[in-house]
Amino acid sequence: MNEKKTLYAHSARAGTRSGAPVRLLSAFAAVAVAALAAPSSAQQAEAAEEGFTPLVSIRELMEQTITPATNTIWGAYEPPTEEEQWKALEEAAVTLLAAANVNALGGTGPMDNEWVQQPSWKAFNDVMIQAGQDALEAIRARDHDALLEAGDVLYPPCEGCHQQFNPGVVNAQ
Ligand code: HEC
Repeated sequence: MNEKKTLYAHSARAGTRSGAPVRLLSAFAAVAVAALAAPSSAQQAEAAEEGFTPLVSIRELMEQTITPATNTIWGAYEPPTEEEQWKALEEAAVTLLAAANVNALGGTGPMDNEWVQQPSWKAFNDVMIQAGQDALEAIRARDHDALLEAGDVLYPPCEGCHQQFNPGVVNAQ
């Protein structure tokens, strides 16, 4: 509601010399307020990307967050016997999801912003996110079989994305 007040105050001040500009500016303000109130999903997506300032490169995300997190998840061949192991798995799955979220938006590397604009980048990343969500759900349910299944779904997007965007990448697996 503050935005509405501010816009209104601006148009009133700008139009003090005659009546007409006030009406014009008020109409403009109404349109602007309507646009603010109901942004399209495209506008929302644009705004989200404009508001995103990467702090790390995609390579750093890969090496420092995604790789250790997925090594923990893939390393759980045997059902955990201690609560601490489940906690470590939960931390890994949350880290993976947070990293994958950023991986969709960009990074500070020279190619990062070019990469993330490709539709297939998002497609591979979405599979990684889905597998991460399945893993987290399985971990919270203490369901080891479901965790193994999520781990299987998690590998192909790594491989697929590396083949397409960086065939030289030596996968940590
Ligand atoms: C959406 C695309 C995408 C997905 C999904 C993806 N990666 Fe990557 N990964 C890349 C790109 C691109 C690079 C190269 C970054 C660079 O060198 O700037 C990379 C680099 C790496 C590296 C560094 C390799 C080196 O050269 O040292 C590792 C390790 C890695 N990824 C692991 C993984 C793992 C594990 C997964 C799956 C859980 C995964 N990545 C999923 C795109 C992806």
